[in-house]
Amino acid sequence: MAPSREPGQTSGSQAQAQEQTQATPVGQTLAGTHHNTLFDAPRSSWSGKWAFILAAAASAVGLGNMWRFPYLAAKYGGGTFLLTYAVLVFTFGVSLLLLETALGRRTGQSAIGAFKAFGKKYAFIGVLASAIPFIITPYYCIIGGWVTKYAASYLTQGAGALADGGAFFGGFITGPIESYLWMGLFMLVTFVIVGLGVEGGIEKANLVMMPALIVMAIGIALFTLMQPGAAEGALYYLTPDFSKLSPELFIGALGQMFFSLSLAMGIMITYGSYLDKKESLTQSVVRVAGFDFGVSFLAGLVIVPAAFFALGSGQAVAAKSGPSLMFITLPQLFDTMGEAAAVVGFVFFLLVFFAALTSAISLTETCVSIVADKTGWSRKRSMATVIAVVGAAGILVNAGYNGLSFIEPLGAGSSLLDLFDFVSNSVMMPLAALLTCIFVGWIIKPKVLVEEVRQSSPFKAEKVWVVLVKYVAPLLVIVILIAYVAQQFGLLSV
Ligand code: TRP
Repeated sequence: MAPSREPGQTSGSQAQAQEQTQATPVGQTLAGTHHNTLFDAPRSSWSGKWAFILAAAASAVGLGNMWRFPYLAAKYGGGTFLLTYAVLVFTFGVSLLLLETALGRRTGQSAIGAFKAFGKKYAFIGVLASAIPFIITPYYCIIGGWVTKYAASYLTQGAGALADGGAFFGGFITGPIESYLWMGLFMLVTFVIVGLGVEGGIEKANLVMMPALIVMAIGIALFTLMQPGAAEGALYYLTPDFSKLSPELFIGALGQMFFSLSLAMGIMITYGSYLDKKESLTQSVVRVAGFDFGVSFLAGLVIVPAAFFALGSGQAVAAKSGPSLMFITLPQLFDTMGEAAAVVGFVFFLLVFFAALTSAISLTETCVSIVADKTGWSRKRSMATVIAVVGAAGILVNAGYNGLSFIEPLGAGSSLLDLFDFVSNSVMMPLAALLTCIFVGWIIKPKVLVEEVRQSSPFKAEKVWVVLVKYVAPLLVIVILIAYVAQQFGLLSV
């Protein structure tokens, strides 16, 4: 089928003209002051394809890559998990990324408006997706605070103090004051950058932090791999063992994919709406996914061998790996590096800090633009509201480790942070993804978005994509949804 409009002609030149007349386009649109009519000329707010890819990558690469992915990989048999995850990202993940960006670009709206554009009764899908960043941001900033504290501690206390098998970490998060201060500091940095606006703050911050992140990630990976004993761990991480394939592994990989690619929470819809009609969607989303996967891969290459080193065998690694891997096990590996220990520890946590910060900025920005879009308030007022809500929720969730630790919402030993993570990540995100796939696959029909993709590039995988969106994706999502909930009630261990 030939596209009805030649890509790059009408829409492309319009877009260019628009680009020249808008001085600070991204800032304006993100602040929610756009009033384009639907299906109108593109808003064309990114300064180019690379600005989009950078921003999408900056939002994708975060604690999910540095902290969550490695502990899942360690837990689920190293190479087996890595391979499953890679397959999922480059089929299902890329398809959903494409769906969301195409939906955003087609409608020129952020999440709520994008669904509403096809009928008022669909707006609730956007509302559901938009609520997710408000739940993630507070706890994300708490973990961001932990990372900041670790980076600072390597500078001031050296590597030994942090490698005491968990007492340092436990003492810190259960203490009455300190963890709040670090969370507050992390939030403050995030809010200041968001407050500086998109062009002045966010784009510049990404431009500095993202390349620094890659250089540091490669450097640290090379360095840790040269440590004695690292090779065995690296083999565990890189060699698939198909006898380890399990439903839990598969479900874990799928959930991780959503979180890491920032899917199903309206972000990519919003980002797509700022994307010029002439930029290739297919190419851009493959790049974003590739970048995100690459960083996860490198983080795993540092952390999984570290776990191997500290715990001795693949079995022990699988049995003991969890959220504390980065904060308890990894410092033990760093501590063996002699003179270099404190430097390596510091650089590593600085790297994680950058990754977390760019994601936190993007999360906060999303919250601000949702409030601004919904209420019509000024950016300042919207921002003040977000700061108040996120700050208060952050204090509450953090209290789950100290003042309120008697609240164990998901069973013995669980915390409020676990609850926030569970509700957003395991319930709301799969639900939003399911509704989005049904909406596109069965209500508006994939053809609408296929046309949008074709505006800027050929779409070779069209048939596969349609089958994925209509059948495979909804089915997979139903599986994770049921499995996650079953896991919470102890029927299945994921
Ligand atoms: N993808 C981010 C990470 O891997 C986390 C995240 C989830 C996120 N949802 C988001 C970041 C929305 C920015 C916006 O850490």
